[in-house]
Amino acid sequence: MEATTMGLHFSVFFSILSLLLLRSGALPKQHVSLVGDSGMRRDGLRVALEAWNFCNEVGSEAPLMGSPRAADCFDLSEGNHLMHKVDEAKNKMGVGKSFPGLPAEALNNPDLYAVEKELYLGSLCQVAEEQNPWQFWMVMLKNGNFDTMSGLCPQNGKKVGPFAQPGKFPCFGKGCMNQPLLYHNQTSLSGSQMRGAYWGSYNLDANLSSGIGETKNISFFEVVWEKKVGVGSWVFHHKVKTSVKYPWLMLYLRADATKGYSGGYHYDTRGMLKTLPESPNFKVRLSLDVKQGGGPKSQFYLIDIGSCWKNNGKPCDGDVTTDVTRYCEMIINPETQAWCSPTNLNACPPFHITPNDTKIFRNDTANFPYAAYHYYCSPGNAEHLEQPFSLCDPYSNPQAQELVQLLPHPVWGAYGYPSKPGEGWIGDSRTWELDVGGLSSRLYFYQDTGTPPARRIWTSIDAGTEIFISNNEEIAEWTISDFDVVITSP
Ligand SMILES: *[C@@H]1O[C@H](CO)[C@@H](O)[C@H](O)[C@H]1NC(C)=O
Ligand SMILES: *[C@@H]1O[C@H](CO)[C@@H](O)[C@H](O)[C@H]1NC(C)=O
Ligand SMILES: *[C@@H]1O[C@H](CO)[C@@H](O)[C@H](O)[C@H]1NC(C)=O
Ligand SMILES: *[C@@H]1O[C@H](CO)[C@@H](O)[C@H](O)[C@H]1NC(C)=O
Ligand SMILES: *[C@@H]1O[C@H](CO)[C@@H](O)[C@H](O)[C@H]1NC(C)=O
Repeated sequence: MEATTMGLHFSVFFSILSLLLLRSGALPKQHVSLVGDSGMRRDGLRVALEAWNFCNEVGSEAPLMGSPRAADCFDLSEGNHLMHKVDEAKNKMGVGKSFPGLPAEALNNPDLYAVEKELYLGSLCQVAEEQNPWQFWMVMLKNGNFDTMSGLCPQNGKKVGPFAQPGKFPCFGKGCMNQPLLYHNQTSLSGSQMRGAYWGSYNLDANLSSGIGETKNISFFEVVWEKKVGVGSWVFHHKVKTSVKYPWLMLYLRADATKGYSGGYHYDTRGMLKTLPESPNFKVRLSLDVKQGGGPKSQFYLIDIGSCWKNNGKPCDGDVTTDVTRYCEMIINPETQAWCSPTNLNACPPFHITPNDTKIFRNDTANFPYAAYHYYCSPGNAEHLEQPFSLCDPYSNPQAQELVQLLPHPVWGAYGYPSKPGEGWIGDSRTWELDVGGLSSRLYFYQDTGTPPARRIWTSIDAGTEIFISNNEEIAEWTISDFDVVITSP
C-alpha cells in the first residue's frame, strides 16, 4: 500500500517534471542506440566476414577455404581470458559438411550453404538482449568480375542463361568469379591489447599465409581490429588492393539487420542493427581516417545505406522479380566526378528536395544542384519512368536495384555530410555525425504512380570502398571506429 502510494506520487511528480521540461523545450537529450555494440566499445567483440560474387552469391567455394562466411566472437572473462565462441573448424566449414540446423537441400549447394552458415555462426555469436538479440559487425568483400558465360547471375531477378558480352564486364576467363583465399588470426590478448585479423587474396595461386607482405601483381585485402581492454572503441584497419585479374573489388564494414533481408540480400541475414532505423529519425556516428585512397576509380562510401522495397511501396518478401534493392551512397573521393549534369539529365534523379522541403526539378538548370549527384539510376523493372533515364546494372544484385550516388556538396551540409570535395578524405580524419535519416527522407526513389510511399526502413549501413575497374594496381587503406546508429527524436 505504502509502496503503491509512493509510486503514484513519484509518477505524478515525474509527469509534472516532464511537462515542465517539455514546455521549456529542455528535454534531456536521449541516446538510444540501434546497434548492439554502441560505438564499438564492447570488449567482447562480435565480427564476421562474408564474401560475395558479382550477384551477391557464392557460386563456388575457393579450394580448401570452405564457405565464405566466418566469425570471430568472444567474451572477456574475469581475469581477462578471451572465451571464443567459434573455432577454426567451424569457420572452415563448407559444402558437404553438416552442422546443426542445416537443411538437406543446402548441404551441397554453395549459395544456400553460405546462407545457413551465416545463421549458424550468428547463433554461436548472438548476444541475448531482451527482445533484441544481435550478432555481429560484418566485414563484406565482393569480387566485381562477371563471367557472362557462367549463367550465374540473374537479370533484374529473372534467371538468364549464358550470354556473350565481351568487354562489358571485367573477367579474365573461366573462374574469374572466384571466392578469395581467406586467412584469420583469431583475436588474442597481449598485455591489455586485443588484436585479430582477416586477410587474403582473390589470386588463388598466391600464398599469403604469413601476411600480405610484398605482393606484386596480386590482389589482397586485410582487416585488422584492435582495442585496449576497457578503453575506447575498437579500431578496424582496412586495406584492399586490386590487380590485373581483379580490377573491381569492394571491402566494407557493415551494420546489417539481425533478421530479414539486409541490403543486397534475398535471404535471412544476421547482423548488428537490433532495431531498424527509419527515415527521418536517426543519425550515424563514426570516425573515419582515410590513409590511402585507392586511385581515381575508388568510390569510397561515407556512407552507404541499403534497403529493399517494391515499386508499389510494399516491403520486400523475397520474390526477386518484384523486390528492389535501394542504395544511397555518398562518394567522398574528390576524383569522382558528377555524371549528372544539365546536359546528361538521365544520370540525375527527376528532382532534388531541399531541407525546407522545396522540390527542384532536374530541368531547372538555374537551381538544380547537379554537382551533388554522381549518378542516379532507375530499377530495371520500373514501369513508369520519366524520360530521360538510365537503368541500373541488372546483373549485380539478386534483384533489380536503384542507386542514388551523392558527392560532397553544400546542399548536404545541413545533414552533417561532407559539403565540399576533399572533406573526409586523406588528411581530414574526423568523427562524423551524419543525419542519414533526414537526408534519406528527402531523396527521390522511384515508385509506381499512385502507390502509397514506402516506409524507408534501412537494413544495412556501411562504409568502405568500391574500386570500380581500376586500370592500375591500386591500394586503399582506412580505419573506422566509434560506429553507432542513434535515434533522433521526431
Ligand atoms: C597474425 O599473427 C601473426 C602471429 O602473431 C603475426 O605475425 C601477423 O602479423 C598477424 N597478421 C595480421 C594481419 O595481423
Ligand atoms: C605457404 O607458405 C608457407 C610458408 O610461408 C608454407 O608453410 C605453406 O605450405 C605454403 N602453402 C602453400 C599452399 O603452398
Ligand atoms: C600480371 O598478371 C597478368 C595476368 O595474370 C599477366 O598477364 C602479367 O604478365 C603479369 N605481370 C607481371 C609484371 O607479372
Ligand atoms: C528554402 O531554402 C532555399 C535555400 O536553400 C531558399 O532559397 C528558399 O526561399 C526556401 N524556401 C522556403 C519556402 O522557405
Ligand atoms: C520540367 O520537368 C517537370 C517535371 O517533369 C515538368 O512538369 C515541367 O514541365 C518541365 N519544365 C520544362 C520547362 O520543361
